[in-house]
Amino acid sequence: MEVIASIGALRERLGAERQVVFVPTMGNLHPGHLELMRIARARGGCAVASVFVNRLQFAPHEDFDRYPRTFDTDCKALAACGIDVVFAPNEAEIYPEPQTYHVEPPPLGSQLEGEFRPGFFRGVATVVLKLFNIVGPRVAVFGKKDYQQLMIVRGMVRQLGLAIEIVAGETARAEDGLALSSRNAYLSAAERAEAPRLQRTLQGLRLRLVAGGRNFGELEAECARTLAGNGWSVDYVAVRKQSDLQPPGPADRNLVILAAARLGATRLIDNLEVSI
Ligand code: PAF
Repeated sequence: MEVIASIGALRERLGAERQVVFVPTMGNLHPGHLELMRIARARGGCAVASVFVNRLQFAPHEDFDRYPRTFDTDCKALAACGIDVVFAPNEAEIYPEPQTYHVEPPPLGSQLEGEFRPGFFRGVATVVLKLFNIVGPRVAVFGKKDYQQLMIVRGMVRQLGLAIEIVAGETARAEDGLALSSRNAYLSAAERAEAPRLQRTLQGLRLRLVAGGRNFGELEAECARTLAGNGWSVDYVAVRKQSDLQPPGPADRNLVILAAARLGATRLIDNLEVSI
């Protein structure tokens, strides 16, 4: 496995590759990421992962500085997955001058996650487009854990005419159902024990939907109350259409429940697809 830090060296290395399959990450890899790597590997061609903590997608009060950086461990895991090339640029390589051109996401970018993390999807879309332009992949793999991110990247690729197939990887979970996330490392032992309630609450809501519940607002509010009653500070629990993440009507059948809530200082997100 080659580790490459500069755009020039990466272009030289990948220039002759017929099919590059790409997995962008911010490092601190967990088994969920490694599953995305295996999906990439299985597509054949040259498997490239990037490790870059993108300042542009962090709000000033967010955890950019304390975001866990575990590059050596990450590289060992990537090599074990059969990744061919790791692109690990520093900030000056990606942002040699202040980034004044941005990808402006559609209104969806200001809803759900975007309502609570203003500028987040603009930062994500901008760096993802930039990484796509640098790496030149035919295929790129994103996790469903960040469901809205996946949707926004798919929309960007479609509307900007990029010749990149976006492949979605399922969310990896701990045995107790907690979605794997780099931020789980911030949880205290007590918070870690409480954290699986987020997914359990979504599972409960799924049962209510499957049983015919259609008062989405009331069902969402009930879930938020359950979480709040157990010490969570809830940003949203939302039932949306899988197709565009907009609120469903009574006839919509392919839904996804999305949630974000904080336990202490740690903000967790999760989601669950429901077909009724
Ligand atoms: O999902 C992530 O880790 C990041 O948002 C991404 C896609 C690597 C862009 O920085």
